[in-house]
Amino acid sequence: MLTETVYLDHSATTPMDDRVLAVMEPYFSEFFGNPSSLHRQGQRAEAAVSAARQSVASILGCSAGSIFFTACATESNNLVLHGLAITKRDAGQAYHALTTPIEHPSVIEPLRHIQSHGAGAYSFLPVDRAGKLRAAEYRQLVTDEISLVSIVLGNNEIGTINPISEVGDFLKHKPALLHTDAVQAANFIELDVDKLGVDFLTLSPHKFYGPKGVGILYARDPASITPLMQGGSQESGVRPGTHNVPLIVGAAKALELAQAAHQDESTRLRPLRDRLIHEVLRRIPECELTGDPEDRLPHHASFVFADIDSNELLASLDLHGYACSSGSACKVGNPEPSKLLLALGYSENLASGALRVTLGKSSSAGVIDAFLNTLIDVIGRLRNQEAD
Ligand SMILES: Cc1ncc(COP(=O)(O)O)c(C=O)c1O
Repeated sequence: MLTETVYLDHSATTPMDDRVLAVMEPYFSEFFGNPSSLHRQGQRAEAAVSAARQSVASILGCSAGSIFFTACATESNNLVLHGLAITKRDAGQAYHALTTPIEHPSVIEPLRHIQSHGAGAYSFLPVDRAGKLRAAEYRQLVTDEISLVSIVLGNNEIGTINPISEVGDFLKHKPALLHTDAVQAANFIELDVDKLGVDFLTLSPHKFYGPKGVGILYARDPASITPLMQGGSQESGVRPGTHNVPLIVGAAKALELAQAAHQDESTRLRPLRDRLIHEVLRRIPECELTGDPEDRLPHHASFVFADIDSNELLASLDLHGYACSSGSACKVGNPEPSKLLLALGYSENLASGALRVTLGKSSSAGVIDAFLNTLIDVIGRLRNQEAD
């Protein structure tokens, strides 16, 4: 057994890049000022926040006034979904959002909350078994009564990439605004907001080798979202609260590095992912790839295995030194099958045996080969135990 962990869970979070840590460090100690203070310490911190905002804006291809720093992507998603609902209510207008059944809970749960409190309504756009938006059908559902369409760019659980720029093109002549949760995409996909055609975009720096505890929101027209918190005038009042300067500086650096490397990293990881997928499907009986085989995140391989309990599989892999995920909020003591996989039509048996393997900077061909052998062995043993 391995003593060190081989980390294959990069969709959950990533280790911080040393270059990101290096630019953050002075803002914890030497330049600790509050950006809202008038003195030099404050102004030094304010300059750092301002430079970070400008850097994020130039990468996303927008003005600095459209970039907001929050505490996480969950907050950014909530700010868009609730913020727009409040604006609509205050204007005496109806709020109807369209989303897909395979969004992250930080999109689906706010919409459910809005609907259950009578503050608006939402419905699902159809996706195929791979979780991809059905092009012919979604167009008919986006009527002029729809206020917002929210679609994940790269799905966290099954890796499918959605055609956001095509949706953006379609929505250009519609009243509906477009939000994309691009949390899983920053390491692999160019995030130019005009090319994507989005009005809102959410990012989470800890998914691209940056710090936890900070989120990014792009809002083309910030006036369209009513702030969820009231307080000071930080972030133009859209998100009041003292700036977390080191995390904001780190978020901008991490985005710069991720977007600069996205093509090379995609080219490096895609063949490793494909080899993993090919060998799992060839060597393990009764298993299926989940998500789209072609349009999928380059680091993402996800499967379902018949007659396997995800929790037992993850625990066994962990004992062998491999950190993977089931792809859902499936935790020990919560043996529920993945809601997303059930929504896509998988049986309970298959949805209970999900495995997500997400590669990253530390992943090499050698790692994949060793992992494959362990996986085959572990699945065989777990199935034998079941049969005994
Ligand atoms: C697609 C997607 N959206 C949103 C989130 C939430 O991100 P955060 O941890 O920054 O709240 C995640 C995290 O797993 C995610 O994968």
